Amino acid sequence: MLGLHNILRWVILILLIASIVKSFSGWQSKKAFTSGDGKLWLFTLISAHTTLLVGLYLLLFGRFGIFTVSLPEGMSVMKDKFFRFYWIEHPFGMIVAVILITLGRGMAKKNVGDTVKYKKAFWFFIVALIFILATIPWPFREVIGRPWVPS
Ligand code: HEM
Repeated sequence: MLGLHNILRWVILILLIASIVKSFSGWQSKKAFTSGDGKLWLFTLISAHTTLLVGLYLLLFGRFGIFTVSLPEGMSVMKDKFFRFYWIEHPFGMIVAVILITLGRGMAKKNVGDTVKYKKAFWFFIVALIFILATIPWPFREVIGRPWVPS
């Protein structure tokens, strides 16, 4: 599950960046909305929701899961950098990102002009990307850093 969660991060990043580039160019060149873009947004949504489900499993039952680890008496999660990141910051940041991706993809079904569709989706996706980049446990981050690929 941890390996899958690690790899899915790359799937989301690639699909999300492609969605951002395509929604930006659709917005700027006032293109008609294409079914190809609709499919790309859908795959981005599916990869985000799958990562969310695997993440929820890890948070509850993984090796550092809430039901797996018993913290020493009197230890505060908020004062421990490791557990504060994996139990609070990472899930919170990523859930916000998944909500934004869901709203962005929802624009495909909204009854609005195609330029508005592209423009709004672009903003939802770009803010989602910022949340994801800020809350991934990159290898260079102290204490919480994890490998680029499953190890
Ligand atoms: C949707 C976007 C998400 C991305 C891109 C993402 C990315 C990652 C990455 C790269 C790791 C490190 C994997 C490794 O050590 O090899 C990780 C670990 C973890 N993630 Fe996520 N995550 C996401 C969502 C979530 C969510 C929504 C939750 C919880 C609700 C979550 C819970 C966790 C936990 C608990 C770990 C540590 C697991 C362990 O070490 O046993 N993740 N995540």
